[in-house]
Amino acid sequence: MNVLVVKANNRPASEAVSSKMYETFMENLGTVHVSTYDVFAEDMPYFGQDLFNAFAKVQAGDKLSELEQRILAAKQKAMDALAAADIVVFAFPLWNLTIPAKLQTFIDYVYQAGFTFKYDENGQLMGLMPDKKAIILSARGGIYSTPETEPLEMSVNYIKNVVGGIFGMEIIDEVIIEGHNAAPDQADEIIAKGLAKAAETAKRLSAAPI
Ligand SMILES: Cc1cc2nc3c(=O)[nH]c(=O)nc-3n(C[C@H](O)[C@H](O)[C@H](O)COP(=O)(O)O)c2cc1C
Repeated sequence: MNVLVVKANNRPASEAVSSKMYETFMENLGTVHVSTYDVFAEDMPYFGQDLFNAFAKVQAGDKLSELEQRILAAKQKAMDALAAADIVVFAFPLWNLTIPAKLQTFIDYVYQAGFTFKYDENGQLMGLMPDKKAIILSARGGIYSTPETEPLEMSVNYIKNVVGGIFGMEIIDEVIIEGHNAAPDQADEIIAKGLAKAAETAKRLSAAPI
């Protein structure tokens, strides 16, 4: 079993709750084979015309610019990491109602027809990663689990829509710590409970590898 953890926060664990969730998860994995793809540490040029220019140049056999070489290599690295994983853990915060831009870039790199999804002969969208499992570890300072606030939340909802809804992965676990900024008097308890759940999730993997 190969576990890939996509780490999407470069704030220190002493300050950032989702970084602490990542750390706690890693500490409790035991001997499970795990690798981390740290989106803030990777060289990941933004997705856009540079990539499409690079594709066209490769097709034509033209010389790539340095930026085009970097973006092609970065995209390939992200795709290879995802392809090699049986279980993909996404550890990320809610920032400004969404995911950090570097995590968005990771998703942009792997969101590709023929790799993560395709349209079948009836035009129906099909995920191409049904054998992979996903785990979500996320923190958010406000409360986004009520019927009124849930539609505002575009980090966990987004990742679930992409990896579950489009790529077809099975989401086997989801640990969300929320409300610690909204209720500072309860913050320690909220965070401690969530970290204990992140530890349990890791221990379950290590006890019963899938
Ligand atoms: C740059 C930034 C933006 C944030 N935006 C939001 C937000 O839109 N809504 C919210 O409830 N909390 C927001 N927060 C609080 C975080 O959700 C909270 O700190 C949570 O623990 C996840 O971020 P962290 O892992 O970096 O701590 C923000 C925090 C930071 C640092």
